[in-house]
Amino acid sequence: MMRALLTTTFVLCAAACGKIPLQQPASAIKAPAVTWQGVYAANCAACHGVTGELGGARPMKNAAYLATIPRDKLVEVTSKGQGTLMPALAASQGGPIADADVQTLVDGMIGEWGKGGTPASVAWEGPLGNADNGATLYAANCQTCHGAANGKAPGTHGSITDPNYLRLVSDQSLRSSIVFGRADLHASCDGPYPGQAANKRMTSSEVADVVAFLASKRPQMGSTKR
Ligand code: HEC
Ligand code: HEC
Repeated sequence: MMRALLTTTFVLCAAACGKIPLQQPASAIKAPAVTWQGVYAANCAACHGVTGELGGARPMKNAAYLATIPRDKLVEVTSKGQGTLMPALAASQGGPIADADVQTLVDGMIGEWGKGGTPASVAWEGPLGNADNGATLYAANCQTCHGAANGKAPGTHGSITDPNYLRLVSDQSLRSSIVFGRADLHASCDGPYPGQAANKRMTSSEVADVVAFLASKRPQMGSTKR
C-alpha cells in the first residue's frame, strides 16, 4: 500500500516537475517518411481508384499509359490539373502536395505501375485533327458501343456525345480514352472495333480527327473547355 502510494506520488511529482519528458523537442520528432503510396492514397485514390484502378477517373495503374505519357507531363498534370475536374495538386499551384512529393509520387507510379509497359503507337498528347473526317470515323468505329452521335443514343456502353458529358471532360481526356480505353473496365476503345477488321487500330491522325469531332459537339457556353 505504502509502495503504491509512493509510486503514485513519484509519478505525479516527476510529471509535474517536468522530469519525465512528456513532450520531445520538435527537433527530435522525425517526420514520417513520405512514400509514393501514401501520397497517392491521400490525394488521388478517391478519383483514380484505391488500387489505381476502377475509380471514376482513368486508372493510373496502367503500364501502357505510364510508358506513353512523358514523365514531365505526368508531373505537370498532377501539379496543375487539367482545367477540368482534375484539380491542381502541387503546393506551388495552391494544392496540398509538396512539389518534391509530386516527384516522389510520379517516380513511384512509373516504377511500380508502369513496370514492363509498352508505349502505345499513338502519342499521349497531340493536336486536334479534322472534325468532318472524325464524324465518319466515329460512325464506323465507335457508334456501336457509344451510340449515334446525337448525344442521346446510349449504344451498348453509354453516350460520349452527350453535351453534359463533354462539358466535364477535356480534349486530352477524350484522347486518352481512345488511345488507352479503360482496361480496368474491359473497355478497348482502341480496337478491335465491331464490324471492322480485327486488327484495325486508330492511327495518330485518326485519333486527332475523332477528338476534334467530339470536341466540336461540346457546348461552348459556360463550358469547361481548356
Ligand atoms: C467494344 C465497345 C467499344 C468501342 C468500339 C469503343 N468504346 Fe469507348 N468505351 C467502351 C467502354 C466499355 C467504356 C467504359 C465505359 C464506362 O465508363 O463504364 C468506354 C469509355 C470511353 C470513354 C470514356 C468515358 C468516360 O468514362 O469518361 C470515351 C471518351 C470513349 N470510350 C471513346 C471512344 C471512342 C471515341 C471510340 C471510337 C474510336 C470508342 N470509345 C470505341 C467501349 C467501347
Ligand atoms: C477530384 C478527383 C480527382 C483527384 C483527387 C485526382 N484526379 Fe486526376 N483526374 C481526374 C479527372 C476527372 C481527370 C480527367 C479530367 C479531364 O477531363 O481532363 C483526371 C486526369 C488525370 C490525368 C490525365 C489523364 C489523361 O491522360 O487525360 C492524370 C495523369 C491524373 N489525373 C493524375 C492524378 C494524380 C497523380 C492524382 C493525385 C496526386 C490525381 N490525378 C488526383 C480526377 C481527379
